[in-house]
Amino acid sequence: MSNWEHISTKDFGWNLFEDKNGRETNQVRTLYEGNQYIWEVSLKANYKAESHWHPYDIIQIFLEGEFKSEGEGSFYPGDIRWVKAGQSTIESGGSEGSRFYLIALGGNIPLMWDDLYEVPEDLKKTLQGRGSGVGKANINKLPFIPFEDEYGRPTQPVQVICNESPHIVRTTFDPTYTASDHWHKHDTMYFIMDGEMSFSDDEPIYKKGDVRVVKGGYSYGPEKPGKEGVTFILISNGGPIDLNWSDIKKPPLVN
Ligand SMILES: [Fe+2]
Repeated sequence: MSNWEHISTKDFGWNLFEDKNGRETNQVRTLYEGNQYIWEVSLKANYKAESHWHPYDIIQIFLEGEFKSEGEGSFYPGDIRWVKAGQSTIESGGSEGSRFYLIALGGNIPLMWDDLYEVPEDLKKTLQGRGSGVGKANINKLPFIPFEDEYGRPTQPVQVICNESPHIVRTTFDPTYTASDHWHKHDTMYFIMDGEMSFSDDEPIYKKGDVRVVKGGYSYGPEKPGKEGVTFILISNGGPIDLNWSDIKKPPLVN
């Protein structure tokens, strides 16, 4: 993995999601493969996926249409959903289909159909110890709260979408805000939902619809939003966001 990756989703082509059992799947674009996998999925209208599970935690950021999951209800743009490793679900697309980002924390996610593959005992046990196997939040209902910095440096308020595993927040940077050089402990994904952002002079400007993946321990900066500010969803893979200022704590990765 390179230290950072600028993903311009429009440059990626659509292909059928692979199912080794040959069951009906949907068009996806594979945006990133590594410690985390990122796809954009376009679920066909009224498509139904029978009961299945995945070996890693997954997160969905809904962009268009309606998505349904038995027992959980419907999901629309503004909703974010997560399903923990080993949790079985039955899912379908609404009458117009559904488009969403799909993120798998840990690796590729084969479709583990419950009629073919039993959830391994150890995974079942782990899941039982993790509370609810599914979760959701809506960005229009979450309050913005201060992001506490242990050194008291200025930060921007965040909406906490999920504060256990997976770790997800949404934030808006005011156009006047700048974050100096810093690094995150874990691999971090940024989904630019609105506006623009510069993460450092080494990287291109990230625009609405772009995705950034940065390696844990890699220092970069300054983070500067565009003239209209920037709104993004941030996912930290492996633990809380853990923001470290590079002038206080030496980054573990040599740039
Ligand atoms: Fe950052």
